[in-house]
Amino acid sequence: MPRQRTTKAIAQRIELDYLKKSHPFRSAMFWSVVLAPILAALWLAAVWSSQGDRVFQSGPVSEKHALFADDCLQCHVPWEGTPDTKCLRCHTVEIHQPVERFTPSCVGCHFEHKDRSLLSKTSDRHCAQCHKDLKTTGGASEFDDSIVSFDSGHPQFDVIAENRSDPGSLALNHAAHMKPGLEGKDGKVTLRCESCHVADSSGGYMLPVSYEKHCKDCHPLELGMILPGEVVPHEEIQVVDGFVRGRLARLVAEKPELLQQAAGDGDGNSRRRRRRRGQSEPETAVTTDAWLKQQISGVEAILWKKGCGTCHDLVGKPELPLISPTKVPDRWFGHAFFAHKSHRALTCTACHTEAGTSKKSSDVLLAPIQTCLTCHSKTGGAQSACSQCHTYHRRPDVIRLEGTMGINPLRVGKWDEFDQSAPAEAPVTGP
Ligand code: HEC
Ligand code: HEC
Ligand code: HEC
Ligand code: HEC
Ligand code: HEC
Ligand code: HEC
Ligand code: HEC
Ligand code: HEC
Ligand code: HEC
Ligand code: HEC
Repeated sequence: MPRQRTTKAIAQRIELDYLKKSHPFRSAMFWSVVLAPILAALWLAAVWSSQGDRVFQSGPVSEKHALFADDCLQCHVPWEGTPDTKCLRCHTVEIHQPVERFTPSCVGCHFEHKDRSLLSKTSDRHCAQCHKDLKTTGGASEFDDSIVSFDSGHPQFDVIAENRSDPGSLALNHAAHMKPGLEGKDGKVTLRCESCHVADSSGGYMLPVSYEKHCKDCHPLELGMILPGEVVPHEEIQVVDGFVRGRLARLVAEKPELLQQAAGDGDGNSRRRRRRRGQSEPETAVTTDAWLKQQISGVEAILWKKGCGTCHDLVGKPELPLISPTKVPDRWFGHAFFAHKSHRALTCTACHTEAGTSKKSSDVLLAPIQTCLTCHSKTGGAQSACSQCHTYHRRPDVIRLEGTMGINPLRVGKWDEFDQSAPAEAPVTGP
């Protein structure tokens, strides 16, 4: 017999007061709905009371900003985010290029709440947004316009690409000076690169080579036979000329017999003629002026040519030439920086491969980009971020802090004592 299933029968099976009856599951559900927000609010209040606004952030701010990490409003404007004007209250930064077509916002490159050490480590894509297709307000750029990363599209360094020569006029034959056992002041010397090239105090660049420190011992500027062992100072040529004149004047004042000898010195033929005629010599001493004139020109002719002229280009009149400016560059890359210190584990010739064999000072001894790429590339091991070698903000004055904070607000977190009245500066933008 088929089952009777009328609507009425079905309706009777429904408990109309079901929802009113208590059930452990239902009450648990009710209480969780009510309690969850309350607990959350309590937790928030508890954490807020101990940690302040920090409870709202997704991660700590960078180490450099830890001083005011809890004072969100130093960087944030409620409902607006983090406008550049907030950063510019503390930092004065120069724009990247006067000819840039737009100025990206600070937070486009400097991240917060992500990794405490990330602040200045900006990724290449921020540079590539312009440099992969570089244009200026005036159209095409003078620089390479398709740089994406160091190992993709980065141009060869200009000095190498354009096959420039060293603009310096100081003579130095590197190969001759790297020979072992050169004749030094106190016997044989074998020079090393570091004998002449010493890094500056930061370890970045090499200090200029100096005559006094690096050449004098082997190349003394000798006055010559007249005063054996005596040297002239390494100075402007007029100063050296003055020194030579003064020194010889003193010499003849101390030893007037030199005037007698000089008269006897005459030219060889007249002396021989006088001797043949049985005359005793000399008849008359030369005057001091005449003596000085003759000696000075004799000493200086040799000094300029064989002394100064060994290392310098001499121009002008031979009696008193001019020393061409040496113009030895102390920076080769105007658009990038370099630090020898970070590479001190390498031999100098790992990069300056030609330095041991170069014979002319006009040789450029710098490495091509390929040398750098052996390490600074994705597979090379060393970092190759643009910011490793280039600055983005023009120097100097990148960072200027006003010193508006006292110790107390920092110590007890009373941020209202921090001078908020310092005017916000308008962001710097290009023309
Ligand atoms: C040194 C400046 C600085 C301070 C101080 C700071 N913030 Fe931020 N905050 C930023 C920057 C920069 C961003 C990224 C903004 C963007 O991408 O537009 C950011 C983003 C945020 C975001 C968005 C989520 C995220 O992580 O991107 C929240 C939420 C936030 N901050 C909360 C806070 C709170 C809460 C405080 C105070 C306890 C605080 N911040 C203090 C600079 C700061
Ligand atoms: C209340 C002042 C203040 C504000 C606002 C501020 N900074 Fe700083 N910032 C500092 C101080 C202090 C340092 C540390 C300076 C130092 O070590 O010489 C610093 C350092 C930095 C550094 C260098 C970090 C490093 O690793 O060397 C960067 C980049 C920077 N801030 C960017 C920003 C950006 C972007 C903003 C805006 C979101 C901002 N700052 C807002 C005070 C501030
Ligand atoms: C296109 C990316 C980019 C933008 C946009 C940018 N920066 Fe930077 N910033 C860098 C890089 C790369 C460095 C590290 C190299 C350097 O100092 O130029 C840096 C360094 C800094 C430093 C540290 C300087 C130092 O001497 O250690 C401060 C401070 C700074 N930026 C503030 C700002 C502020 C403020 C803004 C917004 C007005 C801003 N930056 C916009 C990329 C950027
Ligand atoms: C908003 C666009 C823009 C961004 C972003 C940008 N650049 Fe530039 N950059 C330019 C322009 C424009 C020039 C100048 C071209 C000219 O004068 O012909 C330039 C020139 C340069 C130069 C050569 C001139 C000089 O002053 O040294 C270097 C190096 C450079 N940028 C590096 C960087 C690095 C590194 C970054 C990333 C941290 C970066 N740029 C981000 C637009 C940009
Ligand atoms: C390992 C160091 C290093 C890295 C990384 C690096 N560069 Fe360079 N870059 C240099 C050197 C060195 C020069 C030559 C500078 C000079 O001649 O004054 C240069 C030159 C330039 C120039 C001028 C080029 C020209 O046409 O004269 C620009 C623009 C430039 N780099 C942008 C970048 C950008 C963008 C990145 C990142 C994608 C980057 N560089 C990464 C070292 C580096
Ligand atoms: C006796 C001193 C002396 C010694 C030793 C010496 N140098 Fe030099 N070096 C100079 C002088 C002076 C200059 C500047 C004149 C010139 O450009 O040749 C110079 C210039 C340079 C330059 C920059 C000029 C360019 O054209 O690239 C490099 C790089 C260099 N030396 C590397 C080396 C290395 C590497 C060694 C060791 C293998 C070395 N030097 C040994 C004196 C020395
Ligand atoms: C250890 C001793 C020593 C030192 C230090 C030294 N020289 Fe010399 N120099 C010599 C000797 C030896 C010769 C001759 C070498 C030859 O002809 O092979 C010479 C030759 C020269 C010559 C001409 C020879 C040529 O072959 O072109 C010049 C120029 C020169 N040196 C410049 C310098 C300069 C500049 C410095 C300092 C930066 C310097 N020297 C430091 C020992 C030295
Ligand atoms: C053995 C090589 C050597 C000889 C010889 C030498 N000089 Fe120099 N001179 C140098 C070096 C190296 C420098 C650059 C560093 C320094 O100033 O010490 C220099 C620099 C100079 C300068 C500065 C030029 C500038 O552009 O900066 C003058 C001036 C000068 N010398 C004059 C003289 C005179 C005058 C003589 C001869 C009496 C002389 N030098 C002999 C090696 C020499
Ligand atoms: C990793 C490659 C590398 C190594 C290793 C290296 N250099 Fe350099 N050197 C360079 C570069 C790149 C420059 C150009 C820097 C600039 O002037 O912008 C330079 C420049 C120089 C200059 C010219 C002055 C200056 O500082 O710009 C001298 C001199 C010099 N190096 C000597 C040395 C000596 C000596 C050693 C060994 C102690 C050495 N270098 C090791 C890469 C290297
Ligand atoms: C044998 C490997 C090697 C070679 C070749 C090399 N580098 Fe480096 N370079 C390093 C290492 C390692 C560091 C430091 C760690 C890092 O940043 O990854 C470094 C750091 C640097 C820095 C940052 C310096 C600082 O202290 O801020 C610059 C700039 C640089 N290199 C430029 C160059 C240039 C330009 C060349 C080519 C002439 C070059 N390097 C060749 C390994 C190398």
